[in-house]
Amino acid sequence: MTHDLSPADRAKRAAAARALNFVETGMTLGLGTGSTADWMVRLLAERMKAEGLRIIGVPTSTRTAAQASALGIPLSTLDAAGWLDLTIDGADEFDGARRLIKGGGGALLQEKIVAAASDRMVVITDPSKQVDRLGAFPLPVEVVRFGYETTARLVARVLEDHGLGGRRVALRGGPDGALVTDEGHHILDLHLGAIPNPERLNADLNLIPGVVETGLFCGLASVIVIGREDGTAQVIGA
Ligand code: A5P
Repeated sequence: MTHDLSPADRAKRAAAARALNFVETGMTLGLGTGSTADWMVRLLAERMKAEGLRIIGVPTSTRTAAQASALGIPLSTLDAAGWLDLTIDGADEFDGARRLIKGGGGALLQEKIVAAASDRMVVITDPSKQVDRLGAFPLPVEVVRFGYETTARLVARVLEDHGLGGRRVALRGGPDGALVTDEGHHILDLHLGAIPNPERLNADLNLIPGVVETGLFCGLASVIVIGREDGTAQVIGA
């Protein structure tokens, strides 16, 4: 019953439903994380039951794994699958070059590994996530727990080199309740406002020893699906 949904959920559902048109039986499919991906997993399970669609899912978080398995979607690991036909995942921001910020839900590391091991990544979004320049959404950076404060200082130095000196670097959850990711790391949220050169910032942050990965996804998204409140969806890049 879509008329009971909030406008935001109608848009998320529309994006998820449209993205599932890219799924064919026999595919190995990366299953993203977040509230939009949650819709995709629900609708995927419905289509598998109603239409006999057969896929093997590779989840990008323990949260998605639990949801998919409760809905009866057969799952595998990335190592067992080897390579994926398609990944469908959400994003926190996207720009005109199909670059993304991800990691608002804390699953950026597995999401990036899975996306990079897929023939195609279809990103499910809504108009609120579209930006001219990435960076209004705080950029998540996954860091190892050991020495994370020192890593945060090195991150601040890289930001200075990018003309982003003095921007806030916040440990997600704070020192007393720091978030621990599925892979046992912390997340630093970088409040940047606008990122002048996302590719270069991603590369430079990844050179810091304590940085595991950043939430900048450049050159990974093949298709962006923008769901709208009226139930329609726009596809970019297909
Ligand atoms: C999870 O770590 C994130 O990358 C999500 O994919 C992203 O935050 C989008 O989530 P929503 O669909 O809930 O906005």
